[in-house]
Amino acid sequence: MASNRFWQLNRRPVDDDVSGALSLETEAMPELADGQVLVKAVYLSMDAGTRMWMTEREDSYQPPLELGTKMVGLVLGHIAASRHAGFAEGDLVRGFGQWAEHAVIEPELSGLVKVDTGISDIKQHFGVLGFNGWTALWGLQETAGVEAGHNVLVSAAAGATGVLACQIAKILGANIYGLAGGPDKCRWLESQLGIAQAIDYKNDDIAAELAKVEGGIDAYFDNVGGPILDDVLPNMALYGRVALCGLLAQYKGDGRGQGPEHFDQILMKRLRVEGFFSPDFMDQGERLTQQLKEWLEQGRIDTPFDVTDGIENVLTAYDKLFTGGNIGKVLVRI
Ligand SMILES: NC(=O)c1ccc[n+]([C@@H]2O[C@H](COP(=O)([O-])OP(=O)(O)OC[C@H]3O[C@@H](n4cnc5c(N)ncnc54)[C@H](OP(=O)(O)O)[C@@H]3O)[C@@H](O)[C@H]2O)c1
Repeated sequence: MASNRFWQLNRRPVDDDVSGALSLETEAMPELADGQVLVKAVYLSMDAGTRMWMTEREDSYQPPLELGTKMVGLVLGHIAASRHAGFAEGDLVRGFGQWAEHAVIEPELSGLVKVDTGISDIKQHFGVLGFNGWTALWGLQETAGVEAGHNVLVSAAAGATGVLACQIAKILGANIYGLAGGPDKCRWLESQLGIAQAIDYKNDDIAAELAKVEGGIDAYFDNVGGPILDDVLPNMALYGRVALCGLLAQYKGDGRGQGPEHFDQILMKRLRVEGFFSPDFMDQGERLTQQLKEWLEQGRIDTPFDVTDGIENVLTAYDKLFTGGNIGKVLVRI
């Protein structure tokens, strides 16, 4: 009988012990109910925000996952069976499913969409044309209001969202400063993405480096939150904006660190700090994808991929997001 392997969340992970909280399970191939589809995964997307869903916190934008259930994540794959009129066997689709070889998906509840089969590298549906691309474009343009000549700072600049934010900010005509861990990533950001300066947040004095930026930081695209924000706020320009994309430094616990030490700077510099979340602008997805696709075809933007093979190696891939083991988008090929 055909079987399906999947990752199950058994308990709330403590700090870095994600592997102790999940187990790889095998089941008989799931039966579909009316309105559901079965997606045979080609790639699973590893997304840092899913770490928060493993915690108990009730007040996040995503309720905690129930223990004893399949781990949820983004899937790109083909429809293997359908009991939904909008999807047929063979369609290439992307949406929220499970960390599984085969995901059972209710399209309306999980943002499942058919994706363009004309894209030569389908990984780009998790790269430039995926949620990270939408998020980077939206955060810079709509939330941060980035314009030509602005000084833009991006944290986790060598990660999936960060590399795209750096490249899009460049297309918008901004001067880009990036924060990343270690000299190798910093060299890569400067030489490969051509950003003005990469600051090694693990070894450099962030505040001292940012203080040298003439005119201050007009827009901070923040992927991490945590203590780095304390170094950034005093170095923002008057009327600057902080586009709060993610809180990577705070996903492991209940998320409630102390507020930023330099909270006063929000008033002193008349800053605007705004969080944004990609499912809120899914209805704009087609427009965002169109713009990103044009830049992709023009060779102005790209995503490096970090691909791990095999469902059994999901946790090794996932761990990179929190230890800095990746440049660009982390995927698992099934
Ligand atoms: N708002 C939205 O709609 C939306 C959508 C997608 C993603 N996001 C957010 O975007 C952020 C990036 O996520 P991603 O999935 O694209 O991951 P990613 O950037 O590919 O990977 C994470 C990278 O962040 C860095 N990092 C990890 N812990 C850190 C810490 N404590 N302080 C500073 N840097 C740290 C690491 O690089 P280093 O070597 O540089 O440390 C790591 O490689 C996350 O906060 C995620 O939740 C938000």
